Amino acid sequence: MKLTIIGAGNIGGAIARGLAGGTSIKASDITCTDPSPKRLEHIQSINPSIRTTSDNCDAIKNADIILIAVKPWLVENVINEIKTNLNFEKQIIVSIAAGITFQQLETFLEKDTETKPVIFRLIPNTAIDVKCSMTFISAQNATQEQIDLILKTFNELGLTMLLEERLIGPGTALGSSGIAFAFRYIRAAIEGGIELGFPPEQATEIVLQTFKGAVELLQTKGTHPEQEIDKVTTPGGITIKGLNAMEHAGFTSAVIKGLLASK
Ligand SMILES: NC(=O)c1ccc[n+]([C@@H]2O[C@H](COP(=O)([O-])OP(=O)(O)OC[C@H]3O[C@@H](n4cnc5c(N)ncnc54)[C@H](OP(=O)(O)O)[C@@H]3O)[C@@H](O)[C@H]2O)c1
Repeated sequence: MKLTIIGAGNIGGAIARGLAGGTSIKASDITCTDPSPKRLEHIQSINPSIRTTSDNCDAIKNADIILIAVKPWLVENVINEIKTNLNFEKQIIVSIAAGITFQQLETFLEKDTETKPVIFRLIPNTAIDVKCSMTFISAQNATQEQIDLILKTFNELGLTMLLEERLIGPGTALGSSGIAFAFRYIRAAIEGGIELGFPPEQATEIVLQTFKGAVELLQTKGTHPEQEIDKVTTPGGITIKGLNAMEHAGFTSAVIKGLLASK
């Protein structure tokens, strides 16, 4: 299976590097395009087997999957550039552009043919760089076989979840913006740790391991966070005092407001 990634930036580059090191696609079957020679050199320095070019039309010639990984406002330009060379019978188009709907993509892709394009929307988060992404996938005009192929391919870079398109926006808030919210909690905890008397490196180590432990506990045991909180909160003890102080400052409300604002 041959994959062409148009746009070798943060996400496109991470996808190329991750998949090249996996098992579902051979590195030599991946082509990356980008106007920046520096970005292409960087991809090659990580895996010299990945083919690189700045010619989008040439890059898509033999591709089975074409992944468009440019900024949302450039998607229409890229599609206009490659449209006449696209083969809707054989090729799958994947867009990772946040906010660009199937309806928009179908309009950009419109041409004189009966066959409808097979399109996927894919929303990863930046943890795709370490193969730990929460990736949302939505499909349009795709067969079950094509859906399975895309899910299997991107499962190599973390966890994939198939969603109806209406949930892609909320998913982006919870998973893609969500990683920034997790980082903000981590940063806040580190700052608190420093005030408690730890040097920054030690505070960081403590907070990261604590966060990792919390995630591991919930994933391994399948428990609800509140069940795990109950185990830590002795009645009248210090943990419940800390939790309640956070709630008085609006912690849960702030998180929910943040999520709703970024939808
Ligand atoms: N970052 C996230 O967390 C995240 C999460 C989910 C989805 N996304 C989506 O992922 C997409 C890419 O985001 P990103 O952060 O990876 O952006 P990025 O780092 O700017 O990467 C995009 C790359 O595409 C290149 N490019 C521009 N025009 C091109 C063209 N005509 N042909 C080939 N390459 C071209 C850009 O080159 P120049 O810089 O020279 O223009 C740049 O290297 C966006 O649509 C975004 O909505 C991002």
